[in-house]
Amino acid sequence: MTGSVQCVGLEKMPLKRRIKMSVKEFKHGIYSVGAIDWDRRLFDELIPLPDGTSYNSYLVKGKKKVALIDTVDPTKEYTLINNLEKLGIKSIDYVIANHGEQDHSGTIPRILELYPEAKVVTNQKCKDLLVELLLIPEEKFLVIKNGDTLSLGGKTLEFIIAPWVHWPETMFTYLREDKILFPCDFLGSHLASSDLFVTDEAKVYESAKRYYAEIMMPFRTSIKKHLERIKDLEIDIIAPSHGPVYPRPEFILSAYRDWISEEVKNEVIIPYVSMHGSTDKMVDYFVDALIKRGITAKPFNLTKTDLGELAMALVDAASIVIASPTVLVGPHPAVVSATYLVNALRPKTRFVSIIGSYGWGGKMVEQIKGMLTTLKVEIFEPVIVKGYPKDEDLKALDRLADEILKKHKHITKKEVNYIK
Ligand code: FEO
Repeated sequence: MTGSVQCVGLEKMPLKRRIKMSVKEFKHGIYSVGAIDWDRRLFDELIPLPDGTSYNSYLVKGKKKVALIDTVDPTKEYTLINNLEKLGIKSIDYVIANHGEQDHSGTIPRILELYPEAKVVTNQKCKDLLVELLLIPEEKFLVIKNGDTLSLGGKTLEFIIAPWVHWPETMFTYLREDKILFPCDFLGSHLASSDLFVTDEAKVYESAKRYYAEIMMPFRTSIKKHLERIKDLEIDIIAPSHGPVYPRPEFILSAYRDWISEEVKNEVIIPYVSMHGSTDKMVDYFVDALIKRGITAKPFNLTKTDLGELAMALVDAASIVIASPTVLVGPHPAVVSATYLVNALRPKTRFVSIIGSYGWGGKMVEQIKGMLTTLKVEIFEPVIVKGYPKDEDLKALDRLADEILKKHKHITKKEVNYIK
């Protein structure tokens, strides 16, 4: 490091904006130096963040070298730099980039300005991304391969290349002597909390499940492999790059094992929109029909719902029934958007159906079916009604509920009590 760390403009910022997270040493020589984002309510201009988030960055001081593991979102660079200043860090030897996405890598260029001696340590794919995304010069990198290690003096970093959680270049860093796994996004949660460690597991479970549903669910196959690869690693602490640190790793590892398993629950998710009440009446009747049969029904009115709640429900439901009126011969645009999301998230759902209404005709069913290309599902006969639902339409909904019941009895968890 040349000279003292100065965060340009920091002194001019109001205190509330500057001091968002204090430095915490949570094991000897290992510090949490990241930032809490209490106010952020949307990620990627898409994902709701009801509880804010954090961008965790960790400083590891060995006897000879100092490493910074991941950085923070550029909007919070002042917090990271201020934290390093508070610790009196005069030199950083390595900046470990576990992931190229900007909420973790975006402050690397600023760190390199302040600590020009630092090398960015990452894999080849991540290096290629960082050169393109952040214009970091090639000569700033130290490229590692799976299993490579870096000694800091009494602290050894081991790198585990773990692609597709959730980008192709993702990797984990394991601190051998302290048995800490730094998996970046993987196993994390969007939760702003002043507690460094998980204190309320029920709360963190919800946030981590939401995070898994929104970001990790499409990558279940990769996750399965990576969980298997780290199975025999001795892990005392998991320190992700979003949300609290796990002092009891089994808590989050067992939750992930459950979410990625092939098990589904006796639940039907019903994303729906209604314009003049016909589809609404059908959804009401159908929800009641499912409840009578002992099936959990989760309707989501797409004009009001938080998409994260819908994504969470998709993690383990056995069935999805999409409900839409007909607009300009197709599904309502809000249904198109939700169906696109369902298809992109690739849940382990086994059964799908479509219900809804029309005035004079259309291709709503064909269009919705055509959007579900990634799902490996059996599609039940849709129930589509002209105008307002009549007795025979309601009977068709009963038949659909019966069919779902029959299938769920065979494939959902055995402890479910079905109403006969
Ligand atoms: Fe938290 Fe993929 O970034």
